[in-house]
Amino acid sequence: MAPLRNQMPPWHEHVVLANGRDVLIRPIRPADAGPLRASFALLTPEEVRQRFLHTLTEMTEEMAHKLANPDPRSEFALVAAEPLPPGEALLGAVARLAIEPGTRHAEFAILVSRYVAGMGLGRRMMGRLVRWAKTKRLERLHGDVLDGNQPMLALAHALGFTREHGDSPGLVRVTLDLRQRR
Ligand SMILES: CC(C)(COP(=O)(O)OP(=O)(O)OC[C@H]1O[C@@H](n2cnc3c(N)ncnc32)[C@H](O)[C@@H]1OP(=O)(O)O)[C@@H](O)C(=O)NCCC(=O)NCCS
Repeated sequence: MAPLRNQMPPWHEHVVLANGRDVLIRPIRPADAGPLRASFALLTPEEVRQRFLHTLTEMTEEMAHKLANPDPRSEFALVAAEPLPPGEALLGAVARLAIEPGTRHAEFAILVSRYVAGMGLGRRMMGRLVRWAKTKRLERLHGDVLDGNQPMLALAHALGFTREHGDSPGLVRVTLDLRQRR
């Protein structure tokens, strides 16, 4: 995957995937709510379960609106989109984090659609979430992963996350301590 070097607004990055497709990694925008719902309809039940940790048959307008309008004080969300104006661009991946109220800890979640999986987007977008968390001087980033989700567990391990078995059966919590990694 090759980044294209030119002037870009903050947190924007234009990359060319191994299959030759152009993708813009950028912060989510309110206009992405419609494409978010359209992309959700293309996901397999397994992709949905891995991302949301339960069955979800529809992304409602309300959910899409909330995801596309993160609170800038406590949330950060990136999409990998076609290089078209927000609202027209289809979305191939979404990665987000949310700071837990009253703490310096944040929880992440990511979904790279199977059409563009295995091309480095997951690693790159997780790296950006980590970077954003560091700029906010957060202490810890964590996520809950189904215990059979080898791709996500491998990605988390590669990025230095450690595993904790929490209280919920079937789930592994992966945690990155950011204090040593400023
Ligand atoms: C897990 C996920 C985010 C990985 O995204 P991706 O763009 O395919 O990952 P990348 O191409 O950047 O690969 C990064 C690393 O992930 C791991 N990985 C990715 N796909 C893998 C697979 N099929 N099997 C094993 N490891 C895999 C590898 O460690 C890989 O590093 P490498 O390329 O050096 O071997 C993606 O598969 C996904 O969205 N899955 C469904 C939703 C989900 O599981 N979300 C996590 C819950 S928070």
